Amino acid sequence: MIVVMKANSSEADIQHVLNYLEKHGLTGHLSQGVERTVIGVLGAIGPTGAPGSIGGINPAVGEALEGMPNVENVVRVSKPYKLASREFHPEDTVVEVPAACVSGGVVNIGGPELVMMAGPCTVESEEQLMTTAAAVRKEGAVILRGGAFKPSTSPYGFRGLGEEGLRLLAKARDEFGMAIITEVMTPTDVAMVCEYADILQIGTRNMQNYMLLDEVGRTRKPVVLKRGMSSTFEEWLLAAEYVLSQGNRNVILCERGIRTFEKTTRNTMDISAFPLIKRLSHLPIISDPSQGTGRRDIVGPMSLASIAAGADALLVEVHPNPDEALKDGAQSITIEQFRQLMPQVQSVASAIGRQFI
Ligand code: E4P
Ligand code: PEP
Repeated sequence: MIVVMKANSSEADIQHVLNYLEKHGLTGHLSQGVERTVIGVLGAIGPTGAPGSIGGINPAVGEALEGMPNVENVVRVSKPYKLASREFHPEDTVVEVPAACVSGGVVNIGGPELVMMAGPCTVESEEQLMTTAAAVRKEGAVILRGGAFKPSTSPYGFRGLGEEGLRLLAKARDEFGMAIITEVMTPTDVAMVCEYADILQIGTRNMQNYMLLDEVGRTRKPVVLKRGMSSTFEEWLLAAEYVLSQGNRNVILCERGIRTFEKTTRNTMDISAFPLIKRLSHLPIISDPSQGTGRRDIVGPMSLASIAAGADALLVEVHPNPDEALKDGAQSITIEQFRQLMPQVQSVASAIGRQFI
């Protein structure tokens, strides 16, 4: 249920609604737009401390709310996700990420400007990371990616340098002023990863790890939430709802391809995700054409397609010597390929009236 306040409503009117909700065991989540305030109503707090389903809200509550001063209307949201829905927050959400390398010191994700995030799949060594960071920064990337805790299908695969990898990422941030995005895999690591990262990444394999979603929801760090490799939009937006309902509004969705019957690519990039998620949700959505294809030769074209379809940023894997990469070399582009990609993505961006920061 969503309560839409009139444009001229006062703080007291809003508080009146919030007090009523609290009295009835409900929580109100405010979305303050340019024109009006919208209050998302969530169900009673459950035993874990998380807001419960809104399914059981008594219809009499809606009627009472409709009669309150300066309430424009009460909308029953038919979708199971509420805070992630466009109805709750009609304007686009813009997530701010601190980055010393840009003027003003903040990168906006989800605003008019596009953002390039690039770097190695995995932090392998100081030399590998610094070489890649220097190169991608020189070409215009403002956010550095790199995995320190790596999911691995095989227990014998490389699983990352752990905290040492995070220290190297922090060193690269100090040197190049880029913001850092890195994956966190367990709830117990969240506090530690937060000490180093500017953006927490939730990988495809963990999109439905609800304890992890709750934990990153309790932080206020920007979170990139990758789409589960077999997830529908609804499941993905419900995963985002976990983070949002804990109070963290800084959620960025990432399309990274889904499993289909096709074997030519590692995953099938779902380009329809960009325009469709923009209709369903106010959250920014970015593209990972590296995981989305698994193939270096088509990372470029899928980057262009993602921008054309409405992605707010790209997350691209770059390696100084992909053939020697410890993880995902086949989908990592070379520094030279990245250098060639930047003007191409800029051209597509200007064709749709946007530009890269
Ligand atoms: C991401 O970089 C993952 O760690 C990687 O794609 C996993 O690859 P794997 O399934 O071959 O282990
Ligand atoms: C990654 O980007 O390092 C990664 C593990 O991606 P995904 O979760 O999309 O496979």
